[in-house]
Amino acid sequence: MKIIVVGGTGTIGKAVVAELAKRHTVVVAGFSHGDVKVDIKDNASIDAMYKTVGKVDAVVSTVGKVHFGGFTEMTTELYSIGLQDKLMGQVNLVLRGLPHLNEGGSFTLTSGILSEDPIRFGSSASMVNGAIDSFVKASAIEMPRLLRINVISPTVLTESMDAYGDYFHGFESAPAARVALAYSKSVEGAQTGQIYKVW
Ligand SMILES: NC(=O)c1ccc[n+]([C@@H]2O[C@H](COP(=O)([O-])OP(=O)(O)OC[C@H]3O[C@@H](n4cnc5c(N)ncnc54)[C@H](OP(=O)(O)O)[C@@H]3O)[C@@H](O)[C@H]2O)c1
Repeated sequence: MKIIVVGGTGTIGKAVVAELAKRHTVVVAGFSHGDVKVDIKDNASIDAMYKTVGKVDAVVSTVGKVHFGGFTEMTTELYSIGLQDKLMGQVNLVLRGLPHLNEGGSFTLTSGILSEDPIRFGSSASMVNGAIDSFVKASAIEMPRLLRINVISPTVLTESMDAYGDYFHGFESAPAARVALAYSKSVEGAQTGQIYKVW
């Protein structure tokens, strides 16, 4: 298969690329690194990425920013960061990617544990992750040409504990290599509309 991993230079993305590259041709897309550059907040940039890469059998997204901050300090603008980046960035990767996926191909998006297991300062992440999970369940039933779509919902990564560990006391982390297996299942399996929880 020819697979594009958007965010393939990141903590999760690198592990996903390492897993999938064992068996497939992987094109790595990133914001400032990778085989091809893309800004998921900009539809013209997404279109340019798909044009450069050509037809693919799978699109994997391991991207998305949200603002972490106390609930009473949140604003419309701060929520908008996550809505425009992690949520609509990934939704637009799907919408703009439809014509570029070969029949029977797949989309795999990324959400996260906070949709169901919230932490302090994480209201935007919880909101956006829940929306992504719901988008995947709903869009799966209307996908044309036998296309599939799933989402991976990871817990905090072991590799990210230095950066985020203080937010996640009491959570069990998962190594990136284990999280990457869920992406493999989504891309190489046959299921659709699934939320793969790696918790
Ligand atoms: N890390 C965790 O513990 C964890 C747990 C659960 C869920 N998640 C979710 O998993 C996703 C990835 O997290 P991560 O920790 O792997 O992130 P990361 O290490 O910061 O990597 C982010 C990746 O996204 C790319 N990127 C950043 N902004 C972009 C943009 N506007 N357009 C296109 N690509 C962009 C980066 O490219 P460059 O390298 O070129 O900048 C990089 O490849 C996020 O949605 C996060 O919420 C993470």
